[in-house]
Amino acid sequence: MSARDAESGWEAFYRANQDRAVSPLLRRALGPELLPRGNGHAIDLGCGAGIETSLLLNAHWNVLAIDKEPHAIRRVDALAAKGSGGNLVTVVSCFEDLGELPSSALIHAGLSLPFCAPASFPSFWASIVAALEPGGVFVGHLFGDRHDWAGHPEMSFHRREDVDALCNGLEVELLREIEGDGGHVPHHWHRFDLIVRKR
Ligand SMILES: C[S@@+](CC[C@H](N)C(=O)[O-])C[C@H]1O[C@@H](n2cnc3c(N)ncnc32)[C@H](O)[C@@H]1O
Repeated sequence: MSARDAESGWEAFYRANQDRAVSPLLRRALGPELLPRGNGHAIDLGCGAGIETSLLLNAHWNVLAIDKEPHAIRRVDALAAKGSGGNLVTVVSCFEDLGELPSSALIHAGLSLPFCAPASFPSFWASIVAALEPGGVFVGHLFGDRHDWAGHPEMSFHRREDVDALCNGLEVELLREIEGDGGHVPHHWHRFDLIVRKR
């Protein structure tokens, strides 16, 4: 799978992943010691088929789910219709066009931030940090510079020192670097798993 296939083939990704377990990283962030519920609002950035959005709704979070793919948002709306719990608002938008995000106690971005255009990444990251309430948590993934797709001009990759710089001023609950081969179409992964809290 190339980065270009990923961009054009999200529906295949959603199908291949629809029965997977909820992100262990998000489950960890939701642990009672880590995450006070604050204002009860969460954002799922690049929500895809909505597996994590659905978990959050069922846990009575009010969720803003955002993805650039209308297919993804249709899936999320359908999943949410089956469940109960928090309120769901969905938005079809590119990260690059979002502007200010609403104040939230939790922002999740599972395997999605690397698809933000490099020119927009710094301001998008700043808007994520700005939207976190004091005590609020960001949980998500970044791709490293040894990822197979590194160098794709429309994607963002980070070296370890870049990730450290992004965490400046935040409390790092988890920063884990993972490298290996795998994926629903195999390729080389270099990924950072991140849980950070705004002071
Ligand atoms: C690898 S999938 C991850 C989906 C889901 N978070 C998960 O973990 O299964 C990346 C998602 O990000 C979305 N995406 C990619 N580029 C985006 C962008 N520039 N703005 C908003 N969403 C984007 C895709 O449509 C896709 O649903």
